[in-house]
Parts: sequence; structure tokens; C-alpha cells
Amino acid sequence: MGKIRKNLVDRITDKVKTINNELELLQVAAEMIDTFSEGFNWTGFYMMVGDHLEVGPYIGPRTDHVRIELSDGICGAAASQKKTVNIDDVRSDPRFLACSVSTRSEIVVPLMDGDECLGEIDIDSNQPAYFTQDDREMLEAIAGIVTTRLIQLRSGVNQ
Ligand code: SME
Repeated sequence: MGKIRKNLVDRITDKVKTINNELELLQVAAEMIDTFSEGFNWTGFYMMVGDHLEVGPYIGPRTDHVRIELSDGICGAAASQKKTVNIDDVRSDPRFLACSVSTRSEIVVPLMDGDECLGEIDIDSNQPAYFTQDDREMLEAIAGIVTTRLIQLRSGVNQ
């Protein structure tokens, strides 16, 4: 990972230590990730609630997809396969659930606690094939940091 991406990972690492509330954690992480690139046009979280995903904090146009089943969308695919899904051309992927008509590519990175998916980072771009391998590595590192803090907060550890 290059310096610019490492810098964002480091800043998020430092920031999450100061946050003691789950919703704030997701909101701040979404904001910090979104500032990374003009090409990130919808940046947010979907979180597992029971057997489905529900939209969490995000930056971008309002989405109709507030609840997504694991059998649906790119979001459902990433959560059920428990791995990152990076789609270069969403228009050619029949699973795609459109949030905005201008979206051309999408990356979804799960928040994994061992074998359990707690939620995911979802980013849309209006440019095709926007997300690189470097982006993927950066977002997977951030997912790990957010997940670690999430687990701490859910178990009552606030420091
Ligand atoms: N595109 C996603 C739905 C979420 S919106 O993009 C915000 C999907 O196909 O699952």
C-alpha cells in the first residue's frame, strides 16, 4: 500500500480509539473514507441485523435500499460469500441493486469477526472500473480496524 492510502489507514486507526459509540464509529469512518477520493460517490455501511443487512451511516445520495436480503444485490453477495466483491461494470451484473442511475462501479468489503460477517463497507463510483487493488487493500485494512473497534464496543470495552 502506498503512502497516501497508508496515511488514511493510520488516521482511521488513531481516530477510532477515541470513539465510544457504534453509530458514531460508522459515521466517522464513512466520512473519513469518503474524503479519500472524488470518485467515491456513495460511501457507507450496511450492517447485519438478524439474517439481513440494514443501511447504516453513509455519505451520498439517498438510497431506497434500506434493507437488503443476503440473496440480493452486490451487498448480499459480499456478506454471504464473506469476501470483498469488486464490480467494474455494475450495469452488466444482474445482481446489482441501483441506488443511483449514475453508478458505474461498486466495491463491497465485509466486516469479518472470524467467520461471522457483522456488516460491510459499500462504495459506489460514477466511473467504471474505478476501484483498484490498492483501494481494495486499503478498504480491507480499514474494515479490520472498524471491526476490531466494533467488537470492543459491543463487548463493553470503551478504551
Ligand atoms: N448497489 C448495492 C445496493 C446498495 S446502494 O448502492 C447504496 C447492491 O447492489 O447491493
